Amino acid sequence: MRTARRSLGCCYYPEHWSPQIWQSDAEKMVETGLTWVRIGEFAWSRLEPQPGQYDWTWLDRAINILGTAGLQVVLGTPTATPPRWLVDQEPDMLAVDIEGRVRKFGARRHYCFSHIGYRQHCARIVTELAKRYGSNRYIAAWQTDNEYGCHDTTISYSAAARSAFQVWLRNRYPGPGNDGDITALNTAWGNVFWSMEYDNFEQIDLPNLTVTDANPSHHLEFRRFTSDQVVSFNKVQTDIIRRHSAGPIAHNYMGRITDFDHFDLGADLDIASWDSYPLGFLEDRITATEAHKEKFARQGDPDFQAFHHDLYRAVGRGRWWVMEQQPGPVNWAPYNPAPLPGMVRLWTWEAFAHGAEAVCYFRWRQVPFAQEQMHSGLLNPDSSEAPGLSEARRVAQEIAAAPTVVPGRAKTAIIFDYDADFSWSIQPHGQNMTYFDLVFESYRAARALGLSIDILPHNSGEFANYKLILVPGMIHMSDRLKAELAAGGATVIIGPRSASRTQDMQIPVPLPPNLPGLDATVTQVESLRPGMGIALEKGGHFQHYYEHLAGAAQVTERTTQGQPAMMCAGQLHYLAGWPDPQAFHRILATACAEVGIATYPLPEGLRLRETKTERFWFNYAAKTQTFDGKTFAPTAVLREPVPGTPSQ
Ligand code: GAL
Repeated sequence: MRTARRSLGCCYYPEHWSPQIWQSDAEKMVETGLTWVRIGEFAWSRLEPQPGQYDWTWLDRAINILGTAGLQVVLGTPTATPPRWLVDQEPDMLAVDIEGRVRKFGARRHYCFSHIGYRQHCARIVTELAKRYGSNRYIAAWQTDNEYGCHDTTISYSAAARSAFQVWLRNRYPGPGNDGDITALNTAWGNVFWSMEYDNFEQIDLPNLTVTDANPSHHLEFRRFTSDQVVSFNKVQTDIIRRHSAGPIAHNYMGRITDFDHFDLGADLDIASWDSYPLGFLEDRITATEAHKEKFARQGDPDFQAFHHDLYRAVGRGRWWVMEQQPGPVNWAPYNPAPLPGMVRLWTWEAFAHGAEAVCYFRWRQVPFAQEQMHSGLLNPDSSEAPGLSEARRVAQEIAAAPTVVPGRAKTAIIFDYDADFSWSIQPHGQNMTYFDLVFESYRAARALGLSIDILPHNSGEFANYKLILVPGMIHMSDRLKAELAAGGATVIIGPRSASRTQDMQIPVPLPPNLPGLDATVTQVESLRPGMGIALEKGGHFQHYYEHLAGAAQVTERTTQGQPAMMCAGQLHYLAGWPDPQAFHRILATACAEVGIATYPLPEGLRLRETKTERFWFNYAAKTQTFDGKTFAPTAVLREPVPGTPSQ
C-alpha cells in the first residue's frame, strides 16, 4: 500500500467565466491552499464548435494561467456532453429508457454506450485532446468522461444496444464458426419455461417491455453486458490517453451507483475517485427513517461517505481521491440545507483518514446560469467568499502539519460484489430489498462498534490477511471463492441469500449455500413485510428476509421458536436472515470478541477510523458527546496517534 501526500483542489470551468478573471481566480485558489484544479469535462461545444473545427486557444490559455500560478491540472475528456451538432449527425446515438423513450438533448449524458458512431467521435475528440496536452507540463492527471451512470444513464434499450448485446451473447455462448451456441444459451437460461426458446441469436431482444418480468437469466446477462459496455467505452479513452501521456488517469464515480462493475472499470485506471455530496445523499439516496434524516440533515449520514471511501479505495487498488466534495448547499436533492459550520472540514478530513490523496471541492464559484445556479461553490457568483472557502483554507493549513496518508490494513473486511447487486435488483424477492442496503447495514453495524473496514472484491485474494470477513447477500459465489474463504483463516459470516444462485441465475443443486464442510442447507426462503420480524433468542430480529435452515452443523443463533438462524463449522458461518441493527450489533460484537478485535460501542454519530499511524474521531452529531474520556463538540475532528505508534 502506498504512502501519499494529502492535497486539496477544486473543479473549475474557465469557459463559464470571462478570461479576465482567470488569473485572479488561479491566484486565489493558490492563496487558499489548493494545489489541484480539474477542468474541461463538459467543454465539448467550445473545444469543437463545428464538426472537425477545433478551438484550443482558450484552453491553452486557461491551462497556462492555472499552471503558472502553481496549480496542477486534471484535464477531463468532454464525452459526457456531446454537442448539439453531433446529435444531429448521429441521431440514433441517444440512449433509450426502459419504456422505449428516446432521451433528449438539453442536459447531459444523453448517449448510449453501445453506439459505434458515438464511440468513434469520442475516440476522435480524446485523441485530439491527448495529442495537444499529453506532454503539457501542467497537466498532471486525466479524468475520463464524468460520472458514468449519473441520471440513470448506464442502461440503454436502444437498437445499438440490442445489436451489441447479440454479439456479446455469441461470444459468451460460443459455437461453431461465428455463430454462437443457441442451445447452450437456451439451457443456461431455462428457456423451455413458457416456450421462450430461441432458434438463433438475432431473435434475442433486450429485456424491457415484456408482458411480465423478463427471464432473470436473460436480464442478468443484459446487466453484465451493459456493465462491459461501460468498461469498454472507458477503455477506448484510456488507451488513447496513454499513447500520448504518462499522467495518471481517473474517473469520478458516484455514491450508490452500482449498475456497472466499478472493479472492472477501475482495472483500466490509475486512480479511483468519487463525488461526495453528504447532504444531498442523505435526502436522496439513503434508506433511513425521517428521524434519522432530520437528525443529520446538516451533517450527512455518519457512514455513507466512509463506506464509499472504503469502496473506492478498493476500486483504486489503494489510490483514490474525492474529485468533487460538497462545499455548501446543493441544488438537486429534495431538500438542500446548508451544512453545519465545520462539516466541510470534517468531510475533508474524513476522506483523508480513509486514505484519500486529494479532495477537490465542487465547485470553485457558484454559476449564475443554467441547471446548477442553486449549487454553492467556494465563492459566491460575485466572487465574494462563501462559507466553504474558509474551511478549505483551514484544512490546507492543517494538512501542512500532517501531510502524509499512511494506509493500514483493517482487521475486518466486507466483500462487495456488483454482480450480486445486479441479481438483487432483478430479483429482490420482496419490496424495498436491495443488496446495497444489506451491505451498507452490515457496514454501519461494524462502524457503530468502532471498527475500521476494508471493502474487498470477490477476487481480491487477500482473505488470509483479515480476522473477520462478512459476505452478505452475494447471490452467486464461485466454488473457488468458497474454498478461499474456508481456507483463509478468518472468521467468515456468509449470508443471507449468499451462494443462492448459479452463475446463470438458477437455483443450484445441491441446495444453497453448499459451503465446504458446513452441513447447513437452506430449505425455504421468505421475504417479510414490515412488522413480521422473526425474533432471535439472544435479542433482535431478522427483518426483510428469513431462510429456513436444516442440517447437522452447530447452531450459534436460534429464533425464539427454536429454529436455526446461524450455523457454523469452525470459522465458517452461515447467517440465515437480514438482522435488524440490534441483532447485527450483537452478532458482530460476539464475532469480534472471539477473534480478538477490539470494539468501541460508539454513541450515535461518533465515528472512529484508523490509518496505520493515526486514529481519527469524527462527531457527526449536532451535540457535544463524550466517549473514551474525550469530549467531542459538534463537527469535531480529533486526531491522535494510534496507540503505540509515533506521531507524524
Ligand atoms: C455531480 C456532477 C457535477 C455536478 C455536481 C452537482 O454529480 O459530477 O458535474 O453536477 O454533481 O452537485
